[in-house]
Order: sequence, then C-alpha cells, then structure tokens
Amino acid sequence: MSKLRIAVQKAGRLHDESMELLKNIGISIDNGKDQLKASARNFPVEVFYLRNGDIPQYLKDGVVDAAIIGENVLIEKGEDIGIAEKLGFSSCRVCIAVPKSMKYNGLTDLEGKRIATSYPNTVQKYLDTKGVSANIHIINGSVEIAPNIGLSEAICDIVSSGSTLFKNNLKEVETLLRSEAVLAVSPVLNKEKQAILDKIQFRIQSVLKGRE
Ligand code: PRP
Ligand code: MG
Repeated sequence: MSKLRIAVQKAGRLHDESMELLKNIGISIDNGKDQLKASARNFPVEVFYLRNGDIPQYLKDGVVDAAIIGENVLIEKGEDIGIAEKLGFSSCRVCIAVPKSMKYNGLTDLEGKRIATSYPNTVQKYLDTKGVSANIHIINGSVEIAPNIGLSEAICDIVSSGSTLFKNNLKEVETLLRSEAVLAVSPVLNKEKQAILDKIQFRIQSVLKGRE
C-alpha cells in the first residue's frame, strides 16, 4: 500500500508547530528530526524533514505529495502548487524595511536602490506593479544585516514579532503580503494518495475547529 509523503520544515519557525499538528491529528512519529525521513506508526504516512526553500520543487516534481509550509514560500517559488488548507499558525508578513534614519515617502524612494532579500520574485512583482525599478540582491539568511554593512539601502524579508527589524535599526515601510502555514499539495497526486490526504485534511479540519 502506498504511503503519503509529507514534507515539513527541518528546522526553523514552522517545525515545532508542524510536528504538534501531526501529533494532534493522531499521526505519531517514532524517530526524531536527526533522521531526514520518518514513518508514522499508525497511518500510511512518511514525513520528510526538508529545507523550506526546497519544498516547492519537491512538490512540483511529486517527490513529496504534500507539505506543511509557509504560504510566503509557495508564493515565491511555487505558483502552480495548490493549497488544501490554511493552518492558522506561524503567521507573518513579507515586508520591505529601510534604516530608521531614512526619510521614506513611498516606494519611488527606492528607485535605482539596492534591496537585499530571500524573496526576489515577490519583490520584483511588487516593484513591477508599482512601476519602480530597483536592484535586487539575493541573500539566503540574516537579510536584516544588509543595510548595516553597506550591502543595500533596503531589505525585504518576513516579519513576525518585528524584533529582528528593531534590533537592526530598521523600520517597516511596505507590506507585500501576509502569510501563514498551509497544507500544500503536489499537482501530480494520484488517486490512492489523494484518499489518504482527504483523511488527513478531515482530521486537520476537526483540530482547527476545536481551536476556534
Ligand atoms: C526570520 C526572518 C526574519 C525574522 C522575523 O529569520 O528571516 O529575519 O525571522 O522574525 P521576527 O519579526 O519575529 O524577528 P530567522 O531567524 O528564521 O533566520 P534567517 O533569516 O537567518 O533564516
Ligand atoms: Mg532572518
């Protein structure tokens, strides 16, 4: 019998709550996250612990069947991937921020400037809609340091509590989108796996209802 392969974030802000959700829907996993793959004891499910940024491609290729992932990552990298369910945790927003000392009157102030980000597609789309052109510099982590080391005039990253912006003397000036954890589904799911996913989704809906 085939098993549904579910990807969860290996480490980072979504990991703990993703595992908690799986536990709450009755999927118990034996081994810890040191292993990159784990089987559920009581359900035809395998859990893969992966890097956030890799998950959209795995879904597209059908290497994994479903994933618990931030909607912001899907918007950036996985436009053709469907969302089965919003999960109500890990909410954040994707924002442009500039140094506190900068006088900011609007996005046109960033014309010709450098924006450091891990979300190049999201930023480019936003700039295009507003008719502003800027230079996007891709950084994979610790983005908020960029203005302080002279790498860029602005950054675009996710903001949750706002503490990272605060610590780096930055202020939020544009909100590009809001995001939360979602259950994402591979576009190439077969019927047998869809049936397993339907069961999981039903359980998730019950858990979410209970939280309301
Ligand atoms: C994330 C994100 C922001 C920060 C936002 O970084 O990239 O920097 O969290 O959260 P806050 O508003 O609550 O401070 P993370 O710490 O995951 O590290 P990374 O950027 O190096 O991947
Ligand atoms: Mg960060």
